[in-house]
Amino acid sequence: MNLIKYPARMLWAAKSGLIASGMLAAAAVFAQANIPVVQIQADKVTAKMPPTFYGLMTEEINYSYEGGLYGELIRNRTFKANASEATFWSATGNAAISLDPTTPLNEALNTSLKLEATQASKDAPAGIANGGYWGIPLRERGGSLHASFYAKAASGFNGTLTVAIRSADGKTTFASAKVGGLTSEWKKYEAALKPSPRSPSKNNVFTITTTAPGTIWFQQVSLFPPTYKNRANGARADISQLLAEAQPKFLRFPGGNYVEGDNFKERFDWKKTIGPIEQRAGHRSCWGYWSTDGFGLPEFLGWCEDLGMEPVLAVFAGYTLKHDYVKAGPELEPYVQEAMEEIEYVTGDAATTRWGAQRAKDGHPAPLKLRYVEIGNEDWFDKSGSYDGRFAQFYDAIKAKYPQLKLISTVGNEHPESQRVHSRTPDLVDEHYYRSEEETESQAFIYDARDRSNPTKIFVGEWATRVGSPTPNMAGALGDAAWMCGMERNADIVLMHCYAPLFVNVSDLGAGRSMQWKSDLIGYDALTSYGSPSYHAQKIFSRHQGDEVLATAAQNLPTYSWRQAGKKKNGVEQPATTREVKSLFYSATRDSRSGKIIVKIVNRAEVPQEVQLEISGVKSVAAKGTATVLKADNRNATNTLEEPNKVVPVTETVSGLGTGFTRTFPPCSITVLELDVK
Ligand code: AHR
Repeated sequence: MNLIKYPARMLWAAKSGLIASGMLAAAAVFAQANIPVVQIQADKVTAKMPPTFYGLMTEEINYSYEGGLYGELIRNRTFKANASEATFWSATGNAAISLDPTTPLNEALNTSLKLEATQASKDAPAGIANGGYWGIPLRERGGSLHASFYAKAASGFNGTLTVAIRSADGKTTFASAKVGGLTSEWKKYEAALKPSPRSPSKNNVFTITTTAPGTIWFQQVSLFPPTYKNRANGARADISQLLAEAQPKFLRFPGGNYVEGDNFKERFDWKKTIGPIEQRAGHRSCWGYWSTDGFGLPEFLGWCEDLGMEPVLAVFAGYTLKHDYVKAGPELEPYVQEAMEEIEYVTGDAATTRWGAQRAKDGHPAPLKLRYVEIGNEDWFDKSGSYDGRFAQFYDAIKAKYPQLKLISTVGNEHPESQRVHSRTPDLVDEHYYRSEEETESQAFIYDARDRSNPTKIFVGEWATRVGSPTPNMAGALGDAAWMCGMERNADIVLMHCYAPLFVNVSDLGAGRSMQWKSDLIGYDALTSYGSPSYHAQKIFSRHQGDEVLATAAQNLPTYSWRQAGKKKNGVEQPATTREVKSLFYSATRDSRSGKIIVKIVNRAEVPQEVQLEISGVKSVAAKGTATVLKADNRNATNTLEEPNKVVPVTETVSGLGTGFTRTFPPCSITVLELDVK
């Protein structure tokens, strides 16, 4: 007798009534073909998908704000980037420039740029020039730019100043305006510059020149192009547009390491980042460069408002990157109060609370909805064991006043039990994962096995498949998509997540230059920006989130062999190991309003992969549906400034769908299928 061994999927299908058991023999072809099967139980919802599942994580790294999202075009506008010289500024004509700490604008901007123009004339103007963050961009139909600066002059100066944008070679003046009436007192001057370049360019400089000799001091020299949604002191439009298209639901800010700083003085001291920008002293970012704090707490809130994101606020918790810390107790109390006031700044009523009123004054009259507060960042680095006590002190104070807030511990389950918080039960823990493609894929099912009885939920507050530099390539996107499938399947315990880092200025790559961390979601220079394949993977997942997670199962998933070189253990070389890693990943959700079932399939293999999809618990699935596919010829394929759209998703109508169907998924592909269901 010929014995056919039916695969579990066939028995499952027969049991679900999808096929009659009499059909099993006819379907034996599947058993022999052994193709992967993904089953979706549409009548079994395993979790409500949290509406804030997909978000953004941000900090001042890789020139993310300065030279990135922040609209400001002038580099070192407050002359504080370097205490000994006017970095990024030069003198033009017959003049000398120097820093002058004896002529400050105010306590915050406690220095100025002194221009000594001894021989300026009509034929030989003298002044100052700034080349921006690797260029001053001019776009066709880029609109009017707003120049502003504080200035004062030594007595005897009665000339005018010319504010201009010129090509770096000095041959072309794209726009200029005259400003006059300088006195011996500080005063703010403003001018509109209206260039109409025939082609986009970035090899330009911003200049302020005079044709009359004299001594002039400058502070906060600023140049803004039109910003996203025309916000004053706002964000760069093209980058904001990329973010908006990904439909993020929350923003974790202000870091990352940036919240902690290298030391107490350099932490994110939020009160120094609010109010008028000329009152913001700025501080050194732990990523090695100066932040003017022009993009401060009010601007983060504006970013949330403009993109419809909920803030996830990380508060400084008394521990810095260089391992300085304040132990729990009275010494920590000022930092706890600082955090309480910060929460009030974000959420407080403008009429009845001090910090709510300040927020309104800073341009945000309506309180923001805040549900999550994170206490510190990556406190597993604190080997003193102080985190449990510090967390508890913040927890008790915040919960007493804001019992509705969910508090996040920064020590996740990927760290030893002994390092985690035990004296309180955090509402969530923040887990961070930076890995290779193989590592990500080999761990794509870890959350399926997590203990469901743990009351503490998970926030994956930083993660990335770090393949590709400066931005991830298709291999990174495949790993990311595999990982996102895993998080989606487990949205009952993983409540939200965000990729990191978000941004990189790609103008001058390398340590100490425009990039401190490789594999960042979005790249840009002064003029243009692009989304990496990983960005597009995020985007298509986020835009097809659904609100119910459906039960799924799979059989016959293909694998590939991952050879890992042996590591040294206790000085002894270990042999290389090879393990089998799955190469097909999946998740299924439903949009309960439209009834559509959304199936995500990731084929990381470099060959096409046939998959049998079986959907139970529905009467029928329409033969026609939609497929959004992100794919590449090979896993090294990527996007760049020059080729920003090499790897982008394509959406098309597809047919041949049903409650049971076979579909071939292209090599190196990420597919989102939308099924119309009855
Ligand atoms: O994302 C880059 C850095 O990685 C973050 O600042 C830090 O939290 C993590 O170590």
